[in-house]
Amino acid sequence: MHDAGVLAAVAADMKAQKPDHIALTGDIVNIGLPEEFPPGRNFLEHLGRPRNVTFVPGNHDIYVKEAAALAAQHWQAYMTDDDGKGGFPFVRRRGPVALIGLSSGVPTAPFLATGWLGTNQLAVLAAQLDRLKKEKLIRVVLIHHPPVGVGGRHKRLLDAPIFERVIAEHGAELILHGHDHIHMMCWLKGAEGRRVPAIGVPSASAVPGLDKDNAAYHLFRIDGRRGELSRDWTCELISRGMNGEGAMVEEKRLMLGE
Ligand SMILES: [Fe+2]
Repeated sequence: MHDAGVLAAVAADMKAQKPDHIALTGDIVNIGLPEEFPPGRNFLEHLGRPRNVTFVPGNHDIYVKEAAALAAQHWQAYMTDDDGKGGFPFVRRRGPVALIGLSSGVPTAPFLATGWLGTNQLAVLAAQLDRLKKEKLIRVVLIHHPPVGVGGRHKRLLDAPIFERVIAEHGAELILHGHDHIHMMCWLKGAEGRRVPAIGVPSASAVPGLDKDNAAYHLFRIDGRRGELSRDWTCELISRGMNGEGAMVEEKRLMLGE
């Protein structure tokens, strides 16, 4: 169901758009074997330098308890704040945007794919959202698991209700996730009566025509000036994916506004 050729085509199409920044929301390895991590690093390097590529791990990246150390060993440069400090959540400031990287990947029992953020990470997230709001940056939260899952109890984010409460109290402008391998969009309650779009993207390596959505990625055109976040900043979502003939095409384009 996953194919290296499909992934290469998606990556080539994405790089051809010359994005300012690439964000990956996880699952670049399968079962956390040590030999899976160097190819993961190669893939990240293929996409770009750590300054221009941000990664947060998924449940498959932290599949077993040894995996967190391996992920840090091989991928750390892509999961740090601007001072090179690791740990979650981390914050990267890029122009008018602040990327906030969370880790919902935790080892689970076999056949489970649940996620967990934990009290510490959620508390730091709340404080960071407040600080970045003061800096008037567009806050983009990266998390592997969808905050509102459709995939069933065995693969949900277990502390999603607390995550939703943090977003409702402290606000964010955009939440990006993966995990369910389908196009998803839901609106969470944000602070001050605003709503926050949570956008899920299909797998970038999904063979077209199977039970989940075809391989795709999302391009976000964010218009705003650093330190000038106002109600009228704009964000256009352009979805590009593989059609049944194996060609990369634009699937949809919409403005994310209130
Ligand atoms: Fe996942």
